[in-house]
Amino acid sequence: MGRIGKFTTPHGTVTTPALMPVVHPGKQTLDVKKLGAEIVITNSYIIYKNEELKEKALKDGVHPLIDFPHTIETDSGSFQLSVYGDIDITNEEVIKFQEAIKTDIGTSLDIPTAPYVKRSKAEEDLAITIERAKQAAEVNEELILNSVVQGSTFPDLRLKCAEEISKFDADIYPIGAVVPLMEMYRYADLVDVVMYSIRGLPEDKPRHLMGAGHPMVFALAVAMGCDLFDSAAYILYANKDRFMMPDGTLRLEDLIEMPCSCRVCCEYTPDDLRKMPQDERAKLIAEHNLHISFAEIRRIRQAIVDGELMKLVELRCRAHPFLLDGLRRLKEYQKDMMKLNPSSKKNAFFYTGEETLNRPEVLKHQKQLENIQPTSNSLVILPHTRKPYTKYLNKEYIKKYTPEIVSYYTNSCNLDFSDADVVVADIPFGIIPLGVDEFYPLAQNESPAIHDEDAKQFMKKAICDYTNKYDNILIHKKIVDKYDLDLTDEYTIVDAPITLPDAKISDFDRLKMIADYQFGTNAGNVLFGDDPDKIKIEKSRKTGKIRHVFEDKQNIVNMRANDGFLILSDLGAKRLHEAFDAPHMRVVVAEDAEEYARKGKSVFNKFVLDVDEPIRHNDEVLIVNGDDELLAFGKSLLSSYEIKDFNSGQAIKTRKWKNQ
Ligand code: GUN
Ligand code: ZN
Repeated sequence: MGRIGKFTTPHGTVTTPALMPVVHPGKQTLDVKKLGAEIVITNSYIIYKNEELKEKALKDGVHPLIDFPHTIETDSGSFQLSVYGDIDITNEEVIKFQEAIKTDIGTSLDIPTAPYVKRSKAEEDLAITIERAKQAAEVNEELILNSVVQGSTFPDLRLKCAEEISKFDADIYPIGAVVPLMEMYRYADLVDVVMYSIRGLPEDKPRHLMGAGHPMVFALAVAMGCDLFDSAAYILYANKDRFMMPDGTLRLEDLIEMPCSCRVCCEYTPDDLRKMPQDERAKLIAEHNLHISFAEIRRIRQAIVDGELMKLVELRCRAHPFLLDGLRRLKEYQKDMMKLNPSSKKNAFFYTGEETLNRPEVLKHQKQLENIQPTSNSLVILPHTRKPYTKYLNKEYIKKYTPEIVSYYTNSCNLDFSDADVVVADIPFGIIPLGVDEFYPLAQNESPAIHDEDAKQFMKKAICDYTNKYDNILIHKKIVDKYDLDLTDEYTIVDAPITLPDAKISDFDRLKMIADYQFGTNAGNVLFGDDPDKIKIEKSRKTGKIRHVFEDKQNIVNMRANDGFLILSDLGAKRLHEAFDAPHMRVVVAEDAEEYARKGKSVFNKFVLDVDEPIRHNDEVLIVNGDDELLAFGKSLLSSYEIKDFNSGQAIKTRKWKNQ
């Protein structure tokens, strides 16, 4: 759910995920723009309450007041309300004041309801927050408007609030009142609060996790769909001689070495700092804290582009057992993550621990397996080799293991497995039919050879689910041992000779299996028919992999080298369109965009009328008009959920017709 975004304000463009350092309007000493801030947050209520600051801000605006030329967000005084219980400004007044001081992003006066309050209290507060969000949207003329999600720790209230305030068309949706949860290290509850809030918010607006300022939580929060963070923590921690790190906090009194390689850590020793006056020292530690926080944001952005955000999250969440609770709680939200997870990513899928089994890729594979129909009533499950399996699996390989093959079978009189379907068992994906062994991420993944208990449990279930489709099952003894399979009485050990299948797959059968797996059951027949002689397959001379597929000199599909996906060509697109009813694989575009799509121009989100729910980033799609006429075909750049919500930007990269 993590994404990289950009939004523009009158004072510049902000790339998200972004950290907004908190700048105190009266007391700021550190120059945050020099340290790389594109956006900061300050407090309009503090300015409002101080005559001198107020006068200056009303005269010249907030930008000169805090000496920051780029985007400024202001908070409304809600936080003071939550701390002191009372403030003397109304919602309307605070909106108008923020407009008057020319802030870029302003906030309404939401009520931050503490965690774990009585439901009646949360409901009362929420009614006011929603009413004020509505009023703010009505009276606002100039501001980019924040509308805060509240609802305490009641997931359904969070969802309701998010859905309600989304109707008022604000520009940014902060998630509020989470500071106490983070202070108590209640990260599992934080995950519930954030995931339910995000579930009700539109995809095309940034979300700000209010008061999240420790770099330790950034990766997890970004993976849940948060785009903005604010940090007063860099100063508050520094004032207590604490160094923030991406995996926790260090105390100056314990340090014998400086912890990083920022300017401060290079120029000073812990002793130098200890000898300094407190205010001088705090300023330096604050600089370190901000440096580390920005560095973590940069690392997260890189991880998103590399397709490795979850790997980073799993790494970060090992810094503290309660963060690990947060990561483990995410398992409850697999379906939310599936909605936005790209089908293919740039880098390999790395197993970092048992939580990796909860990633959306693993669940998606189990679903796509259902697209592949058995071609026999017998199944042979082999242990994995190096990847891709078909390169290393062959009759010789199986023979090598024949002496220790022990089969467990339901049909005891038939030991002829020569026409059986062959699959491989491997962690983290479970059962992998031979034909799809080069499809992302089934070849592009690494996991440790020594399995944890969860991996064993996972494999047991994967085998159990998959073998349901078959009458005769043969499982290699290595698998039984490796995953401690507890096979029931139905299985017996075979010592009679077994006729094994050739663990090879023809290029034709491979293509058909990939098509079924990628596009849906029967897509293989639709695209390639059942006569291998009619299909011409061109392979890469260098890698030996399938590259282009033709029938009568017409290109049906091509295979993408990095992820093994089938890429449609004219004939392939026409055949799928003809065979599969709408909405399967369809992106429906408006009349004004028809001509552009036909010419091979990209499809923009605002022209999309409808889109098939399962479409994700990097999937092949069929571009049609309202009458389901095929206009073009291409690759989706977003998930269907994003395409529906976004009104700008590209949705589909269209491919050019070769013969039209
Ligand atoms: N700062 C930290 N938490 C909150 C919150 O819930 N609302 C507002 N407006 N500001 C905050
Ligand atoms: Zn440092």
